[in-house]
Amino acid sequence: MISKPAGERYFLKSKRLGFRCWTREDLPLARELWGDIEVTRYFGGPFSGEEIARRLETEILRMESFQFQYWPIHLLALEDGIPELGFHLRPKYWGRGLAPEAARAVIDLAFGTIGAKGLSAGHHPQNLASKKVIEKLGFRYTHDEYFETLGMDIPYYLLAKTENALPSERAGTGLESELQDAD
Ligand SMILES: CC(C)(COP(=O)(O)OP(=O)(O)OC[C@H]1O[C@@H](n2cnc3c(N)ncnc32)[C@H](O)[C@@H]1OP(=O)(O)O)[C@@H](O)C(=O)NCCC(=O)NCCS
Repeated sequence: MISKPAGERYFLKSKRLGFRCWTREDLPLARELWGDIEVTRYFGGPFSGEEIARRLETEILRMESFQFQYWPIHLLALEDGIPELGFHLRPKYWGRGLAPEAARAVIDLAFGTIGAKGLSAGHHPQNLASKKVIEKLGFRYTHDEYFETLGMDIPYYLLAKTENALPSERAGTGLESELQDAD
């Protein structure tokens, strides 16, 4: 029986890849993959939204019945070794844009001096102030991840370094998540 350790996102890892199972929440990802003409050219694509939803359902049932499916695989390099950005301010300093100001300085440092390829950030689902700051900085949601201290899944985001923008110009510009999936 395929299972993954508690708190782990993947049930299998190779040097650069993490394997997980399709869930019904993956429909947007499935659309990106099986809606792509280049990916699907040689196996009957492009597929309609309806066909993609059916394929996703088939993969989920395949896993339940046979313990295999066309597993979604993710590049680990973008998650592993990527520093996490976070902020803890005393209440009297909240609401003055200090967290984003500090974060921008740290983003410059991380991408420039330290040479990080990306930064991750997460927040408690009810922490809307933190969510706003993370999004304001140009982070993009990538996945939910189990956070042991809270005993729950929390949303995680990625800010990937781009070649053509200075880090401080990056905030708020439409960065694409670089998490990639392959069939
Ligand atoms: C979350 C936190 C880092 C935000 O930092 P900040 O410097 O206040 O950020 P901003 O000034 O950009 O405000 C962010 C949002 O917080 C909200 N906010 C503003 N003043 C607030 C206040 N007094 N109380 C609560 N929220 C407030 C606003 O909605 C604001 O959104 P806006 O950009 O639309 O105005 C800060 O509140 C904090 O340190 N909280 C305690 C620790 C924590 O929760 N850290 C995050 C762990 S994931």
